[in-house]
Amino acid sequence: MTATGVPLRPGTQPEPPEQHADTGQTGRGGDIVVTVRSVDRIFSLGMYLACSALGRSPLPLMEASAVSGGHRAPPTDMTIKQQLRIPGPTPIPMRVSRAATRPMINPRGPEFAALLEQCVTGLRSVLQTQNEILLFGASGTGGLEATVANLLSPGERVLFCTNGWFSELWSRMAAAFRADVVRLSAPWGQAVDVEEIERVLAADARISKVFVTHNETSTGVLNDMAAIAEVVKAAGCLLAVDSVSGVPCHALPIDELGLDVVVTASQKGWLAPPGLTMIAVSDAAIRAATEAKCPRWYFDFLRQKSCQGQGFMQSTPPLSVMYALQEGLAMIRDEGFAEMWQRHERLGQMARLGLQAAGLELVARSDLVSNSVTAIHSPFSSPQDLACFLTDLRTQYGLVLANGLGMMEGKAFRVGHLGSIHEDDVDAMLASLTAALTAFSRRVGVHLKREPSRHLRQRTTFQRNRGPAGQAA
Ligand SMILES: Cc1ncc(COP(=O)(O)O)c(C=O)c1O
Repeated sequence: MTATGVPLRPGTQPEPPEQHADTGQTGRGGDIVVTVRSVDRIFSLGMYLACSALGRSPLPLMEASAVSGGHRAPPTDMTIKQQLRIPGPTPIPMRVSRAATRPMINPRGPEFAALLEQCVTGLRSVLQTQNEILLFGASGTGGLEATVANLLSPGERVLFCTNGWFSELWSRMAAAFRADVVRLSAPWGQAVDVEEIERVLAADARISKVFVTHNETSTGVLNDMAAIAEVVKAAGCLLAVDSVSGVPCHALPIDELGLDVVVTASQKGWLAPPGLTMIAVSDAAIRAATEAKCPRWYFDFLRQKSCQGQGFMQSTPPLSVMYALQEGLAMIRDEGFAEMWQRHERLGQMARLGLQAAGLELVARSDLVSNSVTAIHSPFSSPQDLACFLTDLRTQYGLVLANGLGMMEGKAFRVGHLGSIHEDDVDAMLASLTAALTAFSRRVGVHLKREPSRHLRQRTTFQRNRGPAGQAA
């Protein structure tokens, strides 16, 4: 694609990505190449200086000639790698992209049964559970709807802990299914108060199911699932968790914590494209599904469980996404679970420190912060300025970030650092962002208080601690 959204002209298609000597894989994050027209050379210079200040090389713009190979763009065009740094969909490694193009198979045949078995087994080990893993062709929202429809009955009183856009939406979904929703809301940017959950459950014996969002993608706040599980289990309630963007980037030992339902989705940290929701369901949740009265068909846990038990899915499965997931799981296993969690921890810290060093303020006010996404308050006075800034980032630097959501739309923006993302990617993101911020702030008259030395000190520590897990996957 070009920066203006039109496909690349035939002569500007990128060469296949280079071979990595260490892994033997091609490409890195499945980054695509964009052509930026009429780039102001001053931006290039600014970015170069910013990168130098951050101790960073090479620049995305400097990579341009390498990426465009023999198909060098005309002088008025600059070809750069697009850095997709939204909190999902995430870049797909080449190894996964290739897997996704495997030939179609009979979804009721033995090859599919083997594929299903491998996906389920791989998911069980990352999620540290022996629970049923149900798969549905859907995005994460489908998994959340399936959970509501299978656990609840109309009129049933349930507790939804909300602290951002996605948890709020999930509670609205339950209300649409006619559940009697009690909301325990924490201010956006803060984690759910565990003592409050305990108090609400103690005060209302009618509540027997609790719904929590593990990683609030709208604010970059992580909820303390161990502490929450302890109070919810002590009260004898079922606990359903939206971990669409939480796992596999953060460790979540489902069986140890006694989580009854955990929902995730292929396009987040699983190195796969969108199209599959994966739900870990405990025996207690399966029993609840047999009693729940909310209507459901496509998303019926019991029917899907029965089909999967026979080696197929109740309707046509998204085969290409499942091939990709199978390969993504193999890559996660190759990296090592602990290494993957540590890498995300390093990336989260790098992003937070780098963004703060650039003079930006994080939305998360909690001690518990997400290692997959960081939300930042807009430094600009109007949503229009933020929109222009995000457009500049995309069109002039090839850096794609996400706007804020819900009441934070136009007031915050979000950076994803999950999946096939490594230290160099976060460095490049910070370099582009810092350079763009300098130019844009000057234009709109915003003064940012910078602390580059803090970021550089931290960067040196990261470089010192960096092991093979931080290298290209
Ligand atoms: C925490 C959380 N819940 C739910 C969703 C919705 O998932 P999807 O967009 O895959 O339907 C998202 C998507 O970003 C999310 O981050």
